[in-house]
Amino acid sequence: MNAPHAEEFLTLTEIVAAARRKVAPGPWSYLVGGAETETTVRRNRMALDSLAFRPRVLRDVSKIDSTSTFLGTKVRLPVMLAPIGGLESIVEGGAASAARGSAQFGVPQMLSSVCQPGLEQTAAAADNLRVFQLYVRGDDAWTDDFVRRAKDNGFRAFCFTVDVAAYSRRERDIVGRFIKPWRARAIEGAAFQAGLSWDQVKRYKDKHDLPLILKGIATVEDAEIAVQHGVDVVYVSNHGGRQLDHGLGSTAVLPEIIKAVKGKAEVWVDGGYLRGSDVVKALALGAKTVGIGRLACLGLGAAGVPGLVRTLELLEDEIRICLGLLGVTSYAELTPQHLAPAPPANLPDTFSAFPLLPTQP
Ligand SMILES: Cc1cc2nc3c(=O)[nH]c(=O)nc-3n(C[C@H](O)[C@H](O)[C@H](O)COP(=O)(O)O)c2cc1C
Repeated sequence: MNAPHAEEFLTLTEIVAAARRKVAPGPWSYLVGGAETETTVRRNRMALDSLAFRPRVLRDVSKIDSTSTFLGTKVRLPVMLAPIGGLESIVEGGAASAARGSAQFGVPQMLSSVCQPGLEQTAAAADNLRVFQLYVRGDDAWTDDFVRRAKDNGFRAFCFTVDVAAYSRRERDIVGRFIKPWRARAIEGAAFQAGLSWDQVKRYKDKHDLPLILKGIATVEDAEIAVQHGVDVVYVSNHGGRQLDHGLGSTAVLPEIIKAVKGKAEVWVDGGYLRGSDVVKALALGAKTVGIGRLACLGLGAAGVPGLVRTLELLEDEIRICLGLLGVTSYAELTPQHLAPAPPANLPDTFSAFPLLPTQP
């Protein structure tokens, strides 16, 4: 479906505009919206837009390497498809389509436990690099069963999302009366997620050898506790501004968390990353991998699997140009010295990264 002409998109802006036309109003609000006033959504952009580049010149950038590694395996970009629940409402095939796009382009996918067609069928859809994200809806034995299934199906790591002790009020969905079919299933057992504590993290590390990611770390204090527990990846995230409203932007808290982690775990980040320059900023601050949530959904919504692949190609092009213009040939050469604080040039908003959009959707 939607397949034939994804290569005709010449800019990410055109992909956003096409997704706006194709995705139905209910799923569109679900996709773009955040919690309550959507202040955290805007702060994610604000934090990125508050960093300017300090380019270096005359450094022979004729050969640029924009590849990276993900849990030790080579990937085409330091970018991962963030976990998305209910993707089937945005693109036919749901997570299986994301898996195919991830394999075709060569970036990893984190599969959400609340996405169709589920763990086994998504794993069977493509030979991609994948990790699994769980919303805890049962007891320890229930979780252990997911760990086993993830391992059996070639997932390289396991992730608890920890910023969902309560499900937030997403006002666009509430006002639009958008009933999410997967929410009914998710509500069942929600008390298990609310009851999570560091005890479960300790228990996981004592029992399982699959690397552990904690997604939704937003403070130095929690990053330090995560490291003390031997967590493998500290994933800095505020759920794309969809959970706690009035949080700080992810990119604003990233430097202090990287400092606190002291290289004892990998640090990944997401939240508002929509352009190649955004990704480069995170890498300059010291993040290893950047998750893309809405951007990946927009590619899929615009033109299915080819739309996602095209989105990633355009992102890659932007990243390579940005690296060259900064005077570096690889991420290893990037440092915080390539960045400087600066006032945002325009008012940050969900789509302010795309000023050529005819109307802000
Ligand atoms: C439609 C949608 C569904 C999401 N579902 C999940 C999910 O099931 N599990 C999870 O950990 N995060 C989920 N997230 C959060 C993303 O994984 C990610 O943290 C966020 O989208 C990053 O911000 P960005 O959209 O600005 O890139 C979802 C985000 C969106 C937009």
